[in-house]
Order: sequence, then C-alpha cells, then structure tokens
Amino acid sequence: MEGPWEMLTGKRVLLIIGGGIAAYKSLLLIRLLRASGAQVTPVLTRAGAEFVTPLSVSALAGQKVHQALFDLTDEAEMGHIELSRSADLIVVAPATADLMAKAAGGRADDLASTLLLATDTKVLMAPAMNVRMWLHPATQRTLAQLAADGVLRVGPNEGEMACGEFGPGRMAEPEEILLAIQAALTGGPLHGRHVIVTSGPTQEPIDPVRYIANRSSGAQGTALAAALRDLGAAVTFVTGPAVVPAPAGVTVVRVETAQQMQAAVRAALPADAAIMAAAVADWRVVNAGAQKLKKDGSGKAPALEFAENPDILASVSSGTQRPKLVVGFAAETENVVTHAMAKRLRKGCDWIVANDVSPATGIMGGTENAVVLITASGAESWPRMSKQDVATRLAERISDALAAEGQP
Ligand code: CTP
Repeated sequence: MEGPWEMLTGKRVLLIIGGGIAAYKSLLLIRLLRASGAQVTPVLTRAGAEFVTPLSVSALAGQKVHQALFDLTDEAEMGHIELSRSADLIVVAPATADLMAKAAGGRADDLASTLLLATDTKVLMAPAMNVRMWLHPATQRTLAQLAADGVLRVGPNEGEMACGEFGPGRMAEPEEILLAIQAALTGGPLHGRHVIVTSGPTQEPIDPVRYIANRSSGAQGTALAAALRDLGAAVTFVTGPAVVPAPAGVTVVRVETAQQMQAAVRAALPADAAIMAAAVADWRVVNAGAQKLKKDGSGKAPALEFAENPDILASVSSGTQRPKLVVGFAAETENVVTHAMAKRLRKGCDWIVANDVSPATGIMGGTENAVVLITASGAESWPRMSKQDVATRLAERISDALAAEGQP
C-alpha cells in the first residue's frame, strides 16, 4: 500500500475487536499498525473471541489482550478507566451493530462498552454487519447519534458479504482503517485549516410572532460541516434555525436572518474556504411590525414591503478577505446545470453544488441528494447518494483543492 510508514511512532492505539467475521481483518490491522510504529493494546469482546483467538491477537500485538470487565489482576495493574484513557485513539474494528448501539446508548455492561463510556479519547469505528442490519432504521439512528457525539467512522464498504448478500456493511479494508487512524492521530489533511460553513434556512420576521422562511432542514450543511471536521478542519458553522441539530466539535454560530448570517460570516473571516450551504431568504420585510399585526376587521390584508437581502456568497467572493476556495449551492427546480453555471459566474465563487429541489425529487428535507458539481472546468454529475456521502465526497474535494497550488 501507499503511505508513509513509521507515521505512528510512539502513538498508542486501543483496539477493540468486536464479534463479527471481519475480526480476522483486525489481525492484519494490528500488523499494519505495528509496522507504522504504533503500540497496540488489544481488547477482545466475548463475541470477538468466537472469531479470533486471544492468542493470535496478543501474539500479533505483542501485548496482553484484555477481555473481562472484572478481572482482578487487571484491576490491580490497570483499571478500565485508565485503560480507556491511556490511549491516543480508541479503534473499534469490527464495530458490530450491538456494540455501536451500546456506545450510542451509553450502556456499560462489558469491558468494551465500559471503555467506550469511560473514555475522553477520540474514538474511530469501523462498522461491519449484514446489509439489512446496516440499513435498519435503528442502526441509522445509532450512527446519527454516534456522529453527533463526535465518534469518527471509516466505512463500511459495499460489496459481497460473508453471509452471501450484497450491499453496504463490509468492514473497511485494514489499509483504509490505517489511513483513517493516521488521519485521526495526525490531524487529518485539513488540520490547521479554517472553513466556514453556512447552513439551514434563514427566517425573516413579519412581526414578533411570524416570519418568512423556507423548507431547508440544514441536513446537507450539517453533514458537510461534520465531514470537514473529520478531515481535521476547524469549522465555523453559521446556521439558521435548522431542523437537524448542529454537529459536535465545530464552532456553532446561531443566527436567524440573512443580515445576521452575513455579519456572522464576516466576523468569522479569514478562512481557507467558505462553503455556503444555507438557503438564504432573498427578501426581508422592511415594514415588519414591532407588535403582532392584527386584523382590523376590514378584510384588508396588511401590505408587506420587501427589500432584497445581501448576497452573502457574492459578497464573500468579491471581498478583500476572500478565502482561497468559495463554494455555493444552487437549489433549482428547472434547467439545473444552465442556471447553476450562470450562478457561479454571477456570484464569483469557485464551485457551485447544484441540485434539483423540485418536490418530486424529495431532496429538500429528505436524506438523499443528487448533485452536479460545477467548476471552472465544467459540470460533473454525481449519482444520487445520501447527503452524508455527498458531504464526505465534497469534503475530500475541498481538501484536495486546498492542498493544490494555484486556483481550485
Ligand atoms: N446565497 C447567499 N446569500 C443570499 C442568497 C443566496 O449567500 N442572499 C447563497 C446560498 O447560500 C447558496 C447560493 O447563494 O450557496 C445560491 O442560493 P440560491 O437560493 O440557489 O440562489 P439565489 O441567489 O437565491 O438565486 P435565484 O433566486 O436566482 O435562484
């Protein structure tokens, strides 16, 4: 495999091996980690020991394997609290549906789950399970909770599974897990970079109790902020009142109106990149009532007067503190690519992530997205995928663009 060896010299990894057929790959992971210079302290769950033997694990790790929560010798030598905190990173591979659900729910009924609850160390999970278990809403809820708790994840991949089915659920390959471990321990490719992400709708008041808004849930912006965070970026997340909760591990700035969002973005500059995923209201009510507007009995509706809101994307793109990479989103309902290409030029940003938000697509407020990435070199259509996957892919592109010399 490619990649710098000895990158993990002196790093301590606590490796929890859960009960799944993919546990055999964790033996190879131990070898790769040790070849990279890391120390590996192995923990084997009871189910894990059905798939690989404690002897193989400890022989490869060159250390005793920890298995039981109540082990008197262990408690004398090293308590589970200390064990969980003495590492630079905790890796769970394979992370089974059960182990992940326990971690998300804060259960602590065996050594592995207790370590995960007791730790203040970063945790990276490599899930592995049957495709139906992976796609089950319960597992998806677990994943959302773990992501919100700041747990890092690598994989799973799609492919043929040991149970004969095909789909997502295969554990990431040991080499991929090693790269994710290196990223988690050495800061990731966006370490030292500051990225501003705007997200969610804005709300423009009509009076103290009413407002004009839109259907944006904040899902795509939130997923993107989390993906950038996972690559090591310091993220300032400027969000309107969104449905989806803000991710952990980012600086959250909450705003309501477009004008407040613009002020928050300006205050957050300078940045290496600005990603404007917010659905900003184009208009605000200039004669908003200081008190609740009342019916006057005449049947006449109040006449609202509108003014155009500042274009945050355009002003950042043309500003003196322009980040190296400025990315806008374009929510369109027709002629997506043509409109988005024109929008890229009009707003002066580097890329536009365009999507069709016609009601029939179910994209606005939904969990999936089908985007076209518009750059100076043209339009690139991505297949329909989860907003999470769009975020991961986009974050990687952003990372590559920032690493490259010259213009994105
Ligand atoms: N945007 C912004 N400030 C605004 C309006 C939009 O920063 N006042 C940003 C959005 O965050 C998004 C991009 O501009 O990244 C495009 O938003 P969109 O609503 O699709 O475009 P509009 O500018 O509203 O253009 P139109 O109404 O012509 O579709």
